[in-house]
Amino acid sequence: MIYSETIKLKGPEDTEALGRKIAESALPGEVYALVGDLGTGKTTLVQAVARGLGIESKILSPTFTIVQEYDEGRLPLYHFDVYRVSSEDDLFELGFDEYLEGRGICLIEWADLIEELLPEDICAIFLDYGASEDERYCRIVSPLGPAEPGKKGGAAAAEEK
Ligand SMILES: Nc1ncnc2c1ncn2[C@@H]1O[C@H](COP(=O)(O)OP(=O)(O)OP(=O)(O)O)[C@@H](O)[C@H]1O
Ligand SMILES: [Mg+2]
Repeated sequence: MIYSETIKLKGPEDTEALGRKIAESALPGEVYALVGDLGTGKTTLVQAVARGLGIESKILSPTFTIVQEYDEGRLPLYHFDVYRVSSEDDLFELGFDEYLEGRGICLIEWADLIEELLPEDICAIFLDYGASEDERYCRIVSPLGPAEPGKKGGAAAAEEK
């Protein structure tokens, strides 16, 4: 079953809450594709997931290194930014497949640029600008669905706060 919902993030604090919710329920091997224009909040969301996992290191965008690994949290976090990936080889050289199958979770900024290399059962998170400077729209499309039938998923719960 495919689960989809769109939520409004009124400001960075809503993005923070969403990231923490994702961290709470994240399971080893999950892949999150983050899709959205420059400045829509992909890195901000990754930082919140990292905090939710208990990672205290500063999370910077790995634009030039492509991937940055954090092992100190509840689960390892593999943070990708594939904006500057020019060929499949760039990714395979750094062991992309091993990361996908690793013990941790993969969060991939600009995942739409490598769509054909991604597994099918991923959680896609689309970020878009809203009406005001701090507003964002977030559409989550996932085959996982909310943890309990009839209960709202983490994203909706974050919005209600
Ligand atoms: N609701 C919001 N959610 C997330 N960030 C927000 C929000 N409102 C304002 N911002 C601001 O927008 C900026 C988002 O920057 P961020 O680096 O997270 O974007 P990005 O999508 O990773 O960009 P890039 O494509 O350059 O990697 C930050 O300066 C943040 O403070
Ligand atoms: Mg970024």
